[in-house]
Amino acid sequence: MTQQAEASQKLKPHKIWQDGHMPQPCAIVIFGATGDLAQRKLLPTLAHLMHDHPLPQSFCIVAFARRPLDDEQWRAMALKSINTYMPEDDRLDEEGQKQFASHLFYCQSTFEDSQGYQKLKQLLEKLDREQGTAGNRLFYLATPPETDSQIIAQLGAAGLSHPGQGAENGHEEHGNHSNNHGKSWARIIIEKPFGHDLATAQKLNRDLGRVFRENQIYRIDHYMGKETVQNILAFRFSNGIFEPLWNQRYIDHVQITVAESLGIGTRAEFYESEGAIRDIVQNHIMQVLCLTGMEPPVAFDAEAIRDEKVKLLRAINPLTPDEAKQDVVRAQYVAGEVDGKHVVGYKEEQGVKPDSTTETFVALKFFIENWRWEDVPFYIRTGKRLPKRSTEVTIQFKRVPHQLYKPSETKGLVPNRLTIRIQPDEGIALKIGAKVPGAANQLSSVDMSFSYNQAFGIESPEAYERLIADCILGDSTLFIRRDEIEASWRIIDSITKVWKQLPPRRCILIKLEPGGLLRRMGCLSAMDVPGITLSCLWHDAAEARVYIS
Ligand SMILES: NC(=O)c1ccc[n+]([C@@H]2O[C@H](COP(=O)([O-])OP(=O)(O)OC[C@H]3O[C@@H](n4cnc5c(N)ncnc54)[C@H](OP(=O)(O)O)[C@@H]3O)[C@@H](O)[C@H]2O)c1
Repeated sequence: MTQQAEASQKLKPHKIWQDGHMPQPCAIVIFGATGDLAQRKLLPTLAHLMHDHPLPQSFCIVAFARRPLDDEQWRAMALKSINTYMPEDDRLDEEGQKQFASHLFYCQSTFEDSQGYQKLKQLLEKLDREQGTAGNRLFYLATPPETDSQIIAQLGAAGLSHPGQGAENGHEEHGNHSNNHGKSWARIIIEKPFGHDLATAQKLNRDLGRVFRENQIYRIDHYMGKETVQNILAFRFSNGIFEPLWNQRYIDHVQITVAESLGIGTRAEFYESEGAIRDIVQNHIMQVLCLTGMEPPVAFDAEAIRDEKVKLLRAINPLTPDEAKQDVVRAQYVAGEVDGKHVVGYKEEQGVKPDSTTETFVALKFFIENWRWEDVPFYIRTGKRLPKRSTEVTIQFKRVPHQLYKPSETKGLVPNRLTIRIQPDEGIALKIGAKVPGAANQLSSVDMSFSYNQAFGIESPEAYERLIADCILGDSTLFIRRDEIEASWRIIDSITKVWKQLPPRRCILIKLEPGGLLRRMGCLSAMDVPGITLSCLWHDAAEARVYIS
């Protein structure tokens, strides 16, 4: 390929600050700044944001962490991270690194020590005076979930849930709509998992509510920062031809798949307590489900969109114990080979109990009980060590009411199917029937395809970049509201409570009979990966093998 052709294939940079939306100066305080999320995602994202989409000069990042470091040691640590984790063609040159480092500050404390929060308060006030952070604070809790309530209470006790006095017109945010015009603000981002079940999520919401107003709270799910997830709304509500078909009259079923090819890696402790249903279904899949199924909002704003998402979640009845047994399958991956290399099974992973019943795969069926979706099954599935990494939503339309062609002529034909690929290879494909060229009447399904990269030639922002930028701007559209998170847990609890009561079963092999459980559940195709026994997925196969624990 010529250099010119290569250059023309290079994606153009995206815009993150829309016209008229300029970020205010602020201090971002990262709790858990030495942890995996902060080092691998947050710091590289902030470095990119600062370098490519200039943040105001008076912008600071404060690490609140327990290791005995000073500002210079913290800067060296942060630079090492961004040089390791930023994509190669994004890395900052020496001057850029120096610039970035000059915005970093360190406050040493444990989460438990109230003195530490006083120290933090003094540091933030100093930054307001010396760096011009204008009293604006964003607290990012990249922390073990069990420490969140402690940190929230300590922030409240230290008076840090209110903005500082740095702004000329220093006022708190009031009312439902947060904006930046002339007011200073304090906001908090809470990472997933938000609670372990409904009761713990409600408790965390109460703990937050004692210290912060709802419009200061940003519950993050990084899936909502993905362009392709946001595009579900754009696709549905900006195209006149699909919305009239988007209902039970024309849609046979919907499938939402989040498949990962990797195992649990080093996250055994976390995964053992969460499993696939809490790690993926309760948050990412429920968000995608909401955007796919919700009614049109009255406006494109945070409250209107989240109102519709909550309405949709409320239309999903918690599963009865019988439904939870019949319509939900869970499984664990077993040992096998991937790319010629032996990989261990879940129970053999370091840190996993040999008798663990934690599911690494879950497939289930929901119904949304409203006019639009009556009797349309939503098949959900997610798992680790699956044949390929893929997140997609498939809308399967009903067959034509009367088939004119002979069965022998339509063997290669499937009903219309719209697939929204969220990752990788982001795009949309619509399967349509077409005549194979030649004298015979032979029909086949073909794809009409749209690829994000090819269509726009613009790089997509990293999910965290979009979400952090939105939080700085005070736009909570892509964040999860209190009632939304609780509605989602109510559904998940109806399944996990039944699981808790079931005796752990030995692994059994399920055959997928035509019309049998897995086929009905949308686990419609066997994709055999050498040695990996868990192989139920996707469309049109006669058999799938699933180990259920
Ligand atoms: N990692 C990811 O990709 C990812 C993705 C989505 C969500 N999350 C969520 O983000 C949160 C953080 O995850 P992580 O993977 O970054 O966890 P992690 O690597 O275990 O980091 C935890 C951080 O908290 C600090 N910490 C723990 N207890 C403390 C205490 N008592 N006082 C002061 N500091 C303390 C640790 O400090 P030390 O370094 O000194 O131990 C470390 O900086 C979790 O809720 C996780 O579920 C993570």
